[in-house]
Amino acid sequence: MRVQVLFCSKGGNTRKLALAIAEELGIKAAVIGAASIDPAADIIFFGSGCYGGRPGEEMMRFIEENDFTGRKVALFGTSGGGAGQEVKLMAAALKQKGAAVLGSYHCKGKAFLLFSQGHPDMADLDGAREFARDMVRLG
Ligand SMILES: Cc1cc2nc3c(=O)[nH]c(=O)nc-3n(C[C@H](O)[C@H](O)[C@H](O)COP(=O)(O)O)c2cc1C
Repeated sequence: MRVQVLFCSKGGNTRKLALAIAEELGIKAAVIGAASIDPAADIIFFGSGCYGGRPGEEMMRFIEENDFTGRKVALFGTSGGGAGQEVKLMAAALKQKGAAVLGSYHCKGKAFLLFSQGHPDMADLDGAREFARDMVRLG
């Protein structure tokens, strides 16, 4: 199974998830925009933080600029509130571009020295690793 992990993380929280997922799958994660889509990838993992209720602009631009017809994707994200809005919007945009969404995972990420301090924590990262294994099993 060939897998790619692409992420957008301005503050480093989503990066932690990306690294945990990539490590679990024995690959390297890449910053969104720094790598193009691997045409041979069976599953592409996309991760982003939540900024003003939306995924990062770089993430949305990348989705808009690419065709995902027939591609399987798995989504992950972090946000101060932990509601997962970033993942929902990525899913909608990717479906519009032809992708099949296998599943998603989101957790809290510390924000503004006030919210969700300590997240993502060990349990959050364990959850991300489990998510990675589940997605590969499904894909
Ligand atoms: C400019 C900015 C806007 C944010 N807007 C939201 C928001 O609308 N909802 C929310 O739950 N968290 C919000 N947050 C918190 C981030 O989503 C949270 O810290 C997340 O883990 C950031 O991911 P990152 O560290 O990978 O960049 C915001 C953070 C920043 C810096």
